[in-house]
Amino acid sequence: MFWSPDCVENIVMGINGQFPGPNIRARAGDTVHVELTNKLYTEGVVIHWHGIRQFGSPWADGTASISQCAINPGETFIYQFKVERAGTYFYHGHYGMQRSAGLYGSLIVNLPEGEREPFHYDREFSLLLSDWWHQSAHEQEVALASNPIRWINEPQSVLINGRGQHNCSLAARFSSSSKAVAQCHFRGDEQCAPKILSVLPNKTYRIRLACTTALSSLNFAIGGHKMVVVEADGNYVQPFATDDLDIYSGETYSVLVTTDQDPTLNYWVSVGVRGRRPNTPPALTILNYRTTAAIELPKSPPPVTPQWNDYARSVALSKKVLSRMGTPKPPAKYDRRIILLNSQNKVDGFTKWAVNNVSLTLPSTPYLGSIRYGLMKAFDQRSPPDDYPADYNINEPPSNPNATIRNTVYRFDFNTTIDVILQNANALSVNLSEMHPWHLHGHDFWVLGYGEGKFTDKDAKGFNLKNPPLRNTAVVFPYGWTALRFVADNPGVWSFHCHIEPHIHMGMAVVFAEGVELVRNVPAEALTCGLTAKMFLNEDSKAWHG
Ligand code: C2O
Ligand code: CU
Repeated sequence: MFWSPDCVENIVMGINGQFPGPNIRARAGDTVHVELTNKLYTEGVVIHWHGIRQFGSPWADGTASISQCAINPGETFIYQFKVERAGTYFYHGHYGMQRSAGLYGSLIVNLPEGEREPFHYDREFSLLLSDWWHQSAHEQEVALASNPIRWINEPQSVLINGRGQHNCSLAARFSSSSKAVAQCHFRGDEQCAPKILSVLPNKTYRIRLACTTALSSLNFAIGGHKMVVVEADGNYVQPFATDDLDIYSGETYSVLVTTDQDPTLNYWVSVGVRGRRPNTPPALTILNYRTTAAIELPKSPPPVTPQWNDYARSVALSKKVLSRMGTPKPPAKYDRRIILLNSQNKVDGFTKWAVNNVSLTLPSTPYLGSIRYGLMKAFDQRSPPDDYPADYNINEPPSNPNATIRNTVYRFDFNTTIDVILQNANALSVNLSEMHPWHLHGHDFWVLGYGEGKFTDKDAKGFNLKNPPLRNTAVVFPYGWTALRFVADNPGVWSFHCHIEPHIHMGMAVVFAEGVELVRNVPAEALTCGLTAKMFLNEDSKAWHG
């Protein structure tokens, strides 16, 4: 659709005529039934339900080439899955770079009737945070896959619920400088006009934050107000107060804000960029005390986003996120540990991201079908490496930058405990190591620790087994490591990847499989492509229901 997310008209991928897509609200225990009709003219589509485990419905995970075939133009696919746990989630396209094209929306699961949250609030707001380029996602896909690479640069705008301003600072819009105001061409009813958060004094508001950015790490702050973090990725956390909160792509949070400030004023809500040299103005909206006119300009300037490269600050904030009492504890021991080196590489001159020197490209037959039905030719049957060479220097660009392109799978014995150590390293240019927010499908993991430099066996002694947060996304910081533990208890095939869209596109992903032989009744519609489609054509109807 034509749309003006930041007051500049562009093309977005919308749903039901809306951008972002419609909010989905369910109750824990519900079965959600979504009929997705692909009205794109010339490309396939899938939708992933980010943070939903898909226990018993791995074919509804919405990952092209992993859990299903892309849905062809004109076709309808039914996603039916159970939402087990209340919390803040979102959904988004998971084919090519369709998330960058704007294919996303919010998914919120309420508690079952009669149950109460372990904290009090009067009302809630839900903010979906994203970043936006004027260059189309298609052009970005081609640019990133060109030799030499044409980097997409920083986004033009940060969006809150799909709304931002390009070349017009909202701060200026409300200031008396008419020159600044002249650049702003929204009146309050445009597609790009911010949605103002109207509040009453002395109440507590739950603000749900979901970060679906393609590239940017964000920082959320409200002028003059502290917030208390109570939920992360659908799990309760030990409440802690903070002035601002880093939020990485793939993460969600709930924060409580008490409106205890001067009710005759309004306050800025600001979402700025961190982790990359910022070239994008913060997204702004207003926290409006209803006792004050909504258009009244806040008296003080918007909160200043912390220094983009103050990583010590980011690490300290991440370490504050701990699980609330009553959260399931991790098993005391792991059965298998895999160490995943994150590196930027070259393959035949093309720039790629790789994990243990393997850059992932997806096969044409979805893994769920090929593993379930033993179609060995569908992908490379070799095991990808569980470690990287001991003499690898993580502080320098790779001495041999060449990586290999593969579509291999990590296979886990069912119900075993897996430790994943994400090991960051220097990228291709000197003195550069980027943050990577890693997201796991089909599971939550415990974040056992963050460390600097190369992970060694000794570091495991410092793991937090007491109250590690249970999450589905965790960052590995520059030149550091992050340790995760999870139980491979969900029969299916699951993607584990950096949630930065250009990085996935460039191969920064791995595939996990466990208990696939236990998967029953995969709907044929999920698998009518590649070798599984051929199998359906060639075999008798028994194979269909194997
Ligand atoms: Cu929200 Cu595989 O991603
Ligand atoms: Cu990344």
